[in-house]
Amino acid sequence: AEVVAGIDIGGTNTVIGIVNKQGDILAESTIPTRCQSTFSVYVKNLAVEIEKLLEGLGHEHTLQGVGIGSPNGSYNLGAIVDAPNLEWKGILPLCNELTKHTGLPTVVTNDANAAAIGELLFGAGVGMKNFVVITLGTGLGSGIIVNGKLVVGHDGFAGEFGHIVAKANGRQCGCGKKGCLETYASATGLRRTAFKMIADSNQPSMLRNVTYDKLTSKMITEAAQNGDPLARAAFEYTGLILGTRLADLVAILNPEAIFFFGGLANAGEILIDPVRRYMEEYMFPVFKGKVRLLMSGLQNKNAAVLGAAALIWDELEKKKAN
Ligand code: BGC
Ligand code: NA
Ligand code: ZN
Repeated sequence: AEVVAGIDIGGTNTVIGIVNKQGDILAESTIPTRCQSTFSVYVKNLAVEIEKLLEGLGHEHTLQGVGIGSPNGSYNLGAIVDAPNLEWKGILPLCNELTKHTGLPTVVTNDANAAAIGELLFGAGVGMKNFVVITLGTGLGSGIIVNGKLVVGHDGFAGEFGHIVAKANGRQCGCGKKGCLETYASATGLRRTAFKMIADSNQPSMLRNVTYDKLTSKMITEAAQNGDPLARAAFEYTGLILGTRLADLVAILNPEAIFFFGGLANAGEILIDPVRRYMEEYMFPVFKGKVRLLMSGLQNKNAAVLGAAALIWDELEKKKAN
């Protein structure tokens, strides 16, 4: 049968899925995004991994194309442009480079935009017309659906919610600015918050002797779930920053729901509870109590992989029609 590859490039890991037209993920694997000497080596690894997955499926399937969601992915350029959380800067011609290996049509879009498409077509966004998907991983991404359509903007970069100002002159962001939302509200942001809180206080904490490199958002989540006061305070602060900014987002877009997806979203209520409290507190009254905060309806399926696959299926259809 005909299949495509759907790829979700994250700051830390890259997920590769082989997906059919119905949106079933037939095979999936993960490779590291970091520490791959050069971008070309990384792209070659992607091609090798796709081939491995197809082999695993016994070559009963013919690959038609590749769809990719990436931080700072530009559909218009077929490239990744200055992604704050990737080690390669500048304009990375992802589609051309991958096509050199596969010989197949390839498209790229923003990773969170891909997740929003996945949610819209296959997830909990089915039937909804106005919602936002927030991805909480190494960075913070967003995909915005208005009137049933993804908002792409003039240059294809709409939805960079991670780089709105959370605090003027705040933490240094990978994008070069200071105080961006993702420096507080993301897996990395939570780690920075917890690490700083530990350094600034004498309160006992099970995280106290962990070095920054070893401190993961999962550890902080588990500590908070076990009642660690510092870890709880770190989530409370993350909730304050993210919740107030979501109140702003609601004022602008009037969405029906906001979906969370990605590594830190796995923290569930420990994160969502303070986010909801602060969002409601700072929300313009007409919206109070109306916006649902939900987990991605595709938690163990990867919305971005499905959305990226849907995007290339769409592209292939267009090609056929021409
Ligand atoms: C990037 C976005 C991306 C997000 C999540 C941000 O740093 O600027 O393009 O969607 O991280 O990966
Ligand atoms: Na986006
Ligand atoms: Zn930034």
